Amino acid sequence: RRELRHGSFIGSVDCGTTSTRFIIFDEQAKIITEHQTEYPQILPHAGWHEQDPVDLIDSVREVINNAIEKLEWMGWHRDSVKGIGITNQRETTVAWSKSTGQPLCNAIVWDDTRTVTVVRQFEEKLEEEGIVVDGKKATGRDALVNITGIPLSTYFSAVKLRWMLDHHKDVAAAHERDDLLFGTVDSWFVYNLTGGVNGGIHVMDVTNASRTLLLELKTLTFHKGLLDFFGFRESILPKIVSSAEVYGEIAKSMESALTGVPIAGIAGDQQAALVGNKCFRRGEAKNTYGTGSFVLFNTGEEIVLSKNGLITTVGYQAGPNSPPVYALEGSIAVAGSAIKWLRDQVNLIQESSDMDMLAGSVPDTGGVYFVTAFAGLLAPYWDRSATGTLIGLTLYSTSAHIARATLEAMAYQSRAVLDVIENESGTKLEMLKVDGGVTNSDLAMQIQANIGGFKVCRPSMRESTALGAALLAGHALGLFGWDLNKPETLKDVNTADAYIFEPEIDAKVRRRMIQGWDRAVERARAWRD
Ligand code: G3P
Repeated sequence: RRELRHGSFIGSVDCGTTSTRFIIFDEQAKIITEHQTEYPQILPHAGWHEQDPVDLIDSVREVINNAIEKLEWMGWHRDSVKGIGITNQRETTVAWSKSTGQPLCNAIVWDDTRTVTVVRQFEEKLEEEGIVVDGKKATGRDALVNITGIPLSTYFSAVKLRWMLDHHKDVAAAHERDDLLFGTVDSWFVYNLTGGVNGGIHVMDVTNASRTLLLELKTLTFHKGLLDFFGFRESILPKIVSSAEVYGEIAKSMESALTGVPIAGIAGDQQAALVGNKCFRRGEAKNTYGTGSFVLFNTGEEIVLSKNGLITTVGYQAGPNSPPVYALEGSIAVAGSAIKWLRDQVNLIQESSDMDMLAGSVPDTGGVYFVTAFAGLLAPYWDRSATGTLIGLTLYSTSAHIARATLEAMAYQSRAVLDVIENESGTKLEMLKVDGGVTNSDLAMQIQANIGGFKVCRPSMRESTALGAALLAGHALGLFGWDLNKPETLKDVNTADAYIFEPEIDAKVRRRMIQGWDRAVERARAWRD
């Protein structure tokens, strides 16, 4: 057997909505090796989206073990991985039993919209009864937003947990007898990785906690008034932790190739991408184009509450004693999934990579707009009654126009979010940093720069989400001199060969296109009851 070399690397578990990967980075964020696996999606009814928590944790074991096998095959000893970070699809809600460590039902995924009636019921309760804040009653939408930075919506975890309690008798019974543990995907992973029912720790990082509708943004603690409002016992809640600290080590029971390795960083995937894109300064923004697309704008230590449809979230907290960095976020439900829809449901293209060719074969959409509101519209419109709308069609329209309109839809929605951000923060965005699958399309990025009217910066290594979790863990472990509070210590990380797309259309044309989009959005709204 040949001698294996000992290096110094950091690993990152990245569990997105459809797949999990484990990426091993070196000190310049070069990928040494990686492994990815898809896991089953459970779609019992229209609008319902579930995942089996056991599949999720199995996927983590599989990606780590396979990546380590590749690493050793490349000649590196597994002890080269000094620590791991975790980043995850956010809001997805898991409920499990304290006494058995087993899930009590499937996880409800972030984009599941079954909770529309729960939301309505709590909207009424918010108007009538309100929430108790500092011994006084506060009513109406703002009462909730002022505490949490986010509105009542099917999107966030508390309404999903409420639905579980009302519809799964095992969850209700566990709550009743104080055997229930609630968590987001990071909580479920850390619990299992650190031993599960045999001593696993129950934590949630601040960024994930800021998506539950239970966190008070300014104190970074769960708010008692909100627990009462939703009817949850305090004992089901995880301990809130920062995004960068040593939480525990991978336990033997996990049967992992990395037993004993510290888990040292956690962030929700969009926040991790903010870190991975090195948006450390107030005014820096990124957009990740995955299934959906998520714009995050760093507002520093200030909590900025939007009056125009953005949400306020914790960007990251680089250690238990570091101040939290907040962000404004525009969440767009549909981005890459629209391309997938054209491919799988409509058969407009064979491969996602055919989009550039098809959409690039025409100079414009010929007046076609495609409002991709398949699951209503999130930011900045927040309209659950909107539906997908293809408008402006004539006999002249071709599949190429529709393909191009699909790419434009992503750009218009990001532009709408950034418009609000610019107005509310009073800062003009010069450059948007981007990552995610859709950024492989040069055309989509050029369209984004054209419609946005700003530069779009695409790094050559685009695994910014995984990199963010690795940076958080590296920072916590004191590796490579990385210090997130001193961005200059990261100047050599992922800087090579970034590509900048410059806007190529004039402001008048842009304005006209955006006006057309706004009219199309009006037509898409108020369609469904
Ligand atoms: O808020 C949902 C988000 O975290 C999901 O991201 O990349 O898995 O679609 P993604």
